[in-house]
Amino acid sequence: MTASVKPRAACLIGWPAAHSRSPLIHHYWLRKLDIEGGYNIEAVPPEGFAGFVQRLAAHGFVGANVTLPHKERALALTLPDERARAVGAANTLWYEAGTLRSTNTDIEGFINNLDASANGWDAVEDALVLGAGGASRAVVFGLIERGIKRVHVANRTAERAHTLAQQFGETVHPIAWAAIGEALPQAGLLVNTTSLGMHGQPALELEIGALPSQAIVADLVYVPLETPLLAAARAQGLRTADGLGMLLHQAVRGFELWFGQRPEVTPELRALVEADLRHP
Ligand code: ATR
Repeated sequence: MTASVKPRAACLIGWPAAHSRSPLIHHYWLRKLDIEGGYNIEAVPPEGFAGFVQRLAAHGFVGANVTLPHKERALALTLPDERARAVGAANTLWYEAGTLRSTNTDIEGFINNLDASANGWDAVEDALVLGAGGASRAVVFGLIERGIKRVHVANRTAERAHTLAQQFGETVHPIAWAAIGEALPQAGLLVNTTSLGMHGQPALELEIGALPSQAIVADLVYVPLETPLLAAARAQGLRTADGLGMLLHQAVRGFELWFGQRPEVTPELRALVEADLRHP
């Protein structure tokens, strides 16, 4: 009798099961690399999350992505790496020698997208980061790891920017939300990690004419694909890195951990996801 080998499968655990681009991305790579595998969406309510994660392998999965509202809980239920601990949230789970591990791939998603979109960006000395939530922690971790000298963080709620500075040390300089305009002329890199500018959210009211002529502007928001911030940056000839690029790059490591091959972020994949964003 021949033993039947079940194809490897990963899943996205969220609640409610919102429309996600992750299946599109991972199915594209599975097809491209000719790997027999799967990627499902699993709607798991908060009260069922611990049980589901503890029995992830029994459910037939080699790993998972975790999204709202479970990202923080995932830390306590797994063995997190340094990145997940620094961000305070895990978005990718996998088994390592039988232990369920977790990491946060937003850090490399942000940095690798910058490398792909604005080669040489890390020559900047001063970065200005808007926001001080989980996404900001991922960005700040990546910037410090890459050796950026000063990371200025502006947040509407000042206290959160100070907490972030305490966590990450002297590279981080909290500034008042009202002082963003004064910080622009020194900012070689401007990053929006807030939800401002996202479809359905308030606009990011910011005049960026004072940025240096070689500045790079990154926005984590990807709906709309071109935020008013990115449009303004491009209109003044600045290089940009968009939220969709980060989304694609953050998916690479999960796929590699689950299926054993490192996939590429290609223009074809980008076009596929762009089309889905336009006509969901
Ligand atoms: P995430 O994990 O995506 O970073 P979060 O932790 O909820 O989500 O953080 C959202 C960020 O967007 C915060 O920096 C938040 O500012 P506050 O800490 O003051 O809440 C910012 N943000 C959301 N709405 C905002 C608004 N209307 N004006 C300014 N900042 C806003």
